[in-house]
Amino acid sequence: MVTQATPRTHPLDPLSADEIVRASSIISEQFGSPESLRFLLVAALEPAKGVSEAPRAAEAICINIDSGLTTEAVVDLDAGAVTSITELPGVQPPALFEEYERAEAAIRADAGWRTAMSLRGLNDQQIDLSFIHLWPTGNFGSRWETEHRILKGIVYLRDEPDDNAYGRPVEGLIAVVDLAANRVLEVIDAPSPVPPVTSLRFDHDHGGPHREDLKPLDIIQSEGPSFTLEGHLLRWQQWQMRVSLHPREGLVLHQIGYEDNGQLRPICYRASLAEMVVPYGDASVGHYFKNAFDSGECGIGRLVNSLELGCDCLGEITYLDGVVTDERGGARTIKNAICIHEEDVGLLWKHTYRHPDERGSQSWLRRSRRLVISTIATVDNYDYGFYWYFYQDGAWEHEVKATGIVQTMAIEDDDPQVTRHKIGQRLAGVHHQHFLSYRLDMEVDGRQNTVFEVDTVPLPLGPENPYHNAFTAQATPIADESLSGREVNASAGRHWRIANDSVRNPLGEPPAYVLTPGATVSMMADEQSIIAQRAAFARKQLWVTAYDFAQRYPAGDYPAQSEPGLGIPEWIDSNRSLEQADVVLWYTVGMNHLVRPEDWPVMPVQRAGFSLKPWGFFDRNPGLDVPQPDHCEHDIERRTDLQAHHPHNSHS
Ligand code: CO
Repeated sequence: MVTQATPRTHPLDPLSADEIVRASSIISEQFGSPESLRFLLVAALEPAKGVSEAPRAAEAICINIDSGLTTEAVVDLDAGAVTSITELPGVQPPALFEEYERAEAAIRADAGWRTAMSLRGLNDQQIDLSFIHLWPTGNFGSRWETEHRILKGIVYLRDEPDDNAYGRPVEGLIAVVDLAANRVLEVIDAPSPVPPVTSLRFDHDHGGPHREDLKPLDIIQSEGPSFTLEGHLLRWQQWQMRVSLHPREGLVLHQIGYEDNGQLRPICYRASLAEMVVPYGDASVGHYFKNAFDSGECGIGRLVNSLELGCDCLGEITYLDGVVTDERGGARTIKNAICIHEEDVGLLWKHTYRHPDERGSQSWLRRSRRLVISTIATVDNYDYGFYWYFYQDGAWEHEVKATGIVQTMAIEDDDPQVTRHKIGQRLAGVHHQHFLSYRLDMEVDGRQNTVFEVDTVPLPLGPENPYHNAFTAQATPIADESLSGREVNASAGRHWRIANDSVRNPLGEPPAYVLTPGATVSMMADEQSIIAQRAAFARKQLWVTAYDFAQRYPAGDYPAQSEPGLGIPEWIDSNRSLEQADVVLWYTVGMNHLVRPEDWPVMPVQRAGFSLKPWGFFDRNPGLDVPQPDHCEHDIERRTDLQAHHPHNSHS
């Protein structure tokens, strides 16, 4: 365990528990301390980039649960005063935990809903044991969606309170709840298949008989890990960055830089998950509206798990706690919210040299080790792990791991399985996709960068290409925001190079990093669909915009029940120049999820991500200086041995 000193607060540090309580009490006083005031978010308001002397400030999103009015407030914590208040009638912040509880109680008490349940042959005991899953509703233009703050409740059956309810959906029964009025507005009851009769559990008692051939796997770092953590400043070999937990975005990395010959070279000012959407691809009444914006509609940071040593992360682990508001203005500490550790990841590089004489062959190699910074958030049925990896060759990567329980649907035995796939008897998983938008505020060797789209293309046939074998890398600048919105092209090896043209590397070229997509997928919802317009970011893999302090969330600040066209489509309308500019990249990770039987009853981790690699940022392999353990550097074969063992291969 690395000891955590408590140095002075850095401007990019998250709010402490004391600061959260202080900010919310200052805001509450300003409003006259009403009993109906709730806090959805109280977070450090980071100073605008380039501003060094800013007061310590907090931003808050509040809701009055009686009127439903949302208010944003900014507090100067140094002065102890509210500096701005903005009322936002009509916008919907994420639902409060207490609103989820009240909505569930309202559904259970609703006579119409209970009647619909009993008409399906369910008795009072089954109704009371049922599990209600509340969903954001989106905005399809109904009066409920445009004028009320609502959630939709869908229902599942359980035999006991800790059953895996998702195995027994009561299909086609949806209760629409008004959160401000605290009542059911409508019960949607469509003719549907009856729920399956059996579920499948995944707790220890139901997974057996357990395999018995696993031997212990221990990870020992007898001298501790190779990183240091001072407050939120993390240093590992040449890398350094600041690590924090944001209530909405979750894990945030700030000021990622690399120390090179005693000089800290900036690479990325801020990297975070800026938004997420999970559109479902089934048109039936219980599924068409499922388009969860898990970040903007729920708040990934306030849903992160407390991680457990040896369970979530294995080895020599250092944890950082997270602190979020508890909705009444108090502070809630999430113990062990962020996990930091090192992992062996095989080879960094290797070459075996075959001497042409009796000396035989000789090998040089280095082990690769990476720094891992991670969190895991649970959003209802799904769990998402977010992993940032830093390597000894100057590369870094992001990987998201989706796990948990898939959304299910009751089906008839002869279901044609067009937009869903059978995972059990009369049970299907619904086709869906996961899109995650990562905001990468790049600063490769400084604030002025240009992004190039690089395709590998064959040269035209002709005198320059007489053997028809020649190919080249074609780099096209994304010169302004009219060119923003780029798509992957795997056959051209398309990637994006973020270069600083005002600097030259020792080879005379601009230093750069390249963003390389991982496996991804396009959005299947038609571009005319509501979701394609409310989550326009998900329609392309890369957007580039000019930095603007206020432009943080690519589907708008409040995506719950939002109007189409917010966020990125609005921003790029001004068509700002992006050449040698302070650019922000928004990279969309797409995951297709055609649900398999093997995803049930709990889904093995599905991975996706992207990588950033230096491109002329260094003038040689930066991993040359990694030492090789003595015992690895030796002659691996003597030519005489080779001849003795392989008499018929002596020509090789
Ligand atoms: Co999925």
